[in-house]
Amino acid sequence: MKKLLILIGLISIATLYAFNAESDKRFGKGKDPKDIDRKVDSVLALMTLDEKIGQMVQYNGSWDVTGPATGTDNKKKLENLKKGLVGSMLNVTSVKNTREAQRIIMENSRLKIPLIFAYDVIHGYQTMFPVPLGESASWDLELMEKTARVAARETAASGVHWTFAPMMDVSRDARWGRIMEGAGEDPYLNSKIAVARINGFQGEDLSDPLTIAACAKHFAGYGFAEGGRDYNTVNIGLHELHNSILPPFKAAADAGVATFMNSFNEIDGVPATASKYLQRDLLKGKWGWDGFIVSDWGSIAELIPHGVAADKKQAAEMAVKAGSDMDMEGGAYESSLRELVENGEVEEALIDNSVKRILRLKFELGLFDDPYKYFDEELEKKELYSEANQQVALEAAKKSIVLLKNEADILPVKKGVRNIAVIGPLADDKDSPLGNWRAHAVENSAVSVLEGIRNHAPEGVKVSYAKGAELSTGKRGFLDPMSINKTDRSGFAEAVKLAGEADLVFLVVGEDAYQTGEGRSQTDIGFAGVQDELIEQVTGANSNVVMLLMNGRPMDITASSEKVSAILETWLLGSQHGNAVAEVVFGKYNPSGKLPVSFPRNVGQEPLYYNQKNTGRPSGGEQVTWSHYTDSRRDALYPFGYGLSYTDFEYGEISLDKNEFSKDGKITASIEVTNTGDVAGEEVVQLYLRDFIGSITRPVKELKAFQKVELQPGQTKKLSFTIDEEMISYFTRNKKWEAEAGEFKLFIGGNSVDLKETGFEYK
Ligand code: NOJ
Repeated sequence: MKKLLILIGLISIATLYAFNAESDKRFGKGKDPKDIDRKVDSVLALMTLDEKIGQMVQYNGSWDVTGPATGTDNKKKLENLKKGLVGSMLNVTSVKNTREAQRIIMENSRLKIPLIFAYDVIHGYQTMFPVPLGESASWDLELMEKTARVAARETAASGVHWTFAPMMDVSRDARWGRIMEGAGEDPYLNSKIAVARINGFQGEDLSDPLTIAACAKHFAGYGFAEGGRDYNTVNIGLHELHNSILPPFKAAADAGVATFMNSFNEIDGVPATASKYLQRDLLKGKWGWDGFIVSDWGSIAELIPHGVAADKKQAAEMAVKAGSDMDMEGGAYESSLRELVENGEVEEALIDNSVKRILRLKFELGLFDDPYKYFDEELEKKELYSEANQQVALEAAKKSIVLLKNEADILPVKKGVRNIAVIGPLADDKDSPLGNWRAHAVENSAVSVLEGIRNHAPEGVKVSYAKGAELSTGKRGFLDPMSINKTDRSGFAEAVKLAGEADLVFLVVGEDAYQTGEGRSQTDIGFAGVQDELIEQVTGANSNVVMLLMNGRPMDITASSEKVSAILETWLLGSQHGNAVAEVVFGKYNPSGKLPVSFPRNVGQEPLYYNQKNTGRPSGGEQVTWSHYTDSRRDALYPFGYGLSYTDFEYGEISLDKNEFSKDGKITASIEVTNTGDVAGEEVVQLYLRDFIGSITRPVKELKAFQKVELQPGQTKKLSFTIDEEMISYFTRNKKWEAEAGEFKLFIGGNSVDLKETGFEYK
């Protein structure tokens, strides 16, 4: 009995501790969430229905808030701001503007409820980090927390409280332009990265003036658009939704993310914005999450073209009942909620619930204590683009680079190389590395590859440059097909001449910043314009060509990959792009990135992902009637998790402390990894599982854990992983997360294909 009492005591202390740690994170150290709830209730009690609805309205800053509002719409918006009928604004940035917008509401409105300012800080505010897909290739969670923290500092110092990031849409289709904004094709990797980024943005305490609220988006299924066409229909079943799409969102909710954004797409006929199942039942209900959900831009009014609502009034009713708390620039809540409540079609309690959630975040951010606390011009100057921030950008950029091919160890550049030619339409591009979601980045502010190579080339090495060809002749910001250069080859001759004279060529090809991002889906994921021909000509003139690929999506590089000696996947690496590339090619940094997404052999394989199902016909020998293509292999050119190093890593055999376990038990799996080369290097050791027989069909392999280790030449490290019930659980035919008894295969290795394997049983 005594022992039992002690045990109960210990459990309660542990629970209290865990609760306090979680609540410290959301509400600030030592602050009592109930205290905030009391304050929220006291404000709510003072509010009229119009003021409540106002909190659920988010305006785009479509006019210069420091000047007069022009145009009927803007004039009306300004009037509503003065009346306190707006809860939040997006795209109002920098201290000068945010302070002015806040002043308007604080000096004119009845209740003086501060605004919360939101902005898309996706991979940096002014200091730009690699595009999220690229940064995910680092598999370095601490790093990603750090870059999000720097982005938060710059954002908060500019008067903005809330970012619409991280995007955690699992995406398996390279055609989808927004694949660039996420962490790739794997639910587990996406979950880990989402939490790291959320922790980076939100820090320990949201009231700290250098942290910002994060937003888990897009809830849910947006990355599964049919054909990879943005905003297109999503048709997936409940099991796929839970097993492949929702895990990062659940992890984000558990990590205390302040807000969620719903998504533009429908799933099985129900637009996510109107999905009560997703928002009210699952997220706010079963998962017990207490933040607020903002719609995506106009997604409430878009219920009309979706064809489920006849007008804004019906759209507003559907969305509010489903659990969407704030209407981003849609005008549906503003125009219809009052009437819906007055007619009894929507209960005021629903409005109250949304408003409480919104007010709570305002209290957590400390805005009620001081609505002007984020407006400090000195701090803004000090934080933006600081030298320290550039260092973090450089670290992130070099850790995101993936070495895909390195024939005869052509990289790093050898001492005998005296004459380097840097060639390609993107070689001296100082703008594309900034990516598409570039927030406050200054145009053309990135270090280009050419600049980086010149900065880092050893004394006496000649570096020459030829563009070779323009990628596009159109205006920046939208690479429309008409503007792609398909005819002008006038620069080829000079490029070929330089290539012929050089010891080594860096060929910088790929995508312009605006080929990926929202609305930038493509059916062709090869090299646009005349780049293929340029590659052909340059590789014809010199056999030592290193391709430096710049892109935001996995591309079809099959043909050119055979022509070049080495390939570095450099993505769009942000402000320090060129310096990072140079550090890698000259061997100052040994590349350690691994692909977070499969590289296809051709676009016809898309969607392509490693964790696919076995199907009833996985192989066929001489037969034609099995699951394959008759004109292409079905595996990836470069698989998920793949990436080389300037050294080699050798894996021992997996050892298990036992080969079966049951509920509450666990197995420890260990493996030795040795650096067998002669330079230090980092390796991402990946653990995958296969569940042989399930109540529903199971993937052929699923990433379940990874560790990034650094090894000196000749050094061996033994790594251990714990396999427990949580690791083998999934959303089963019983429609709940649970572990099912049976046999499992366990794989460990350096990518999703080259793996050591063993087995265990769960009883
Ligand atoms: C639409 C995008 O889908 C979303 O990700 C973004 O945050 C909003 N626009 C606001 O810019």
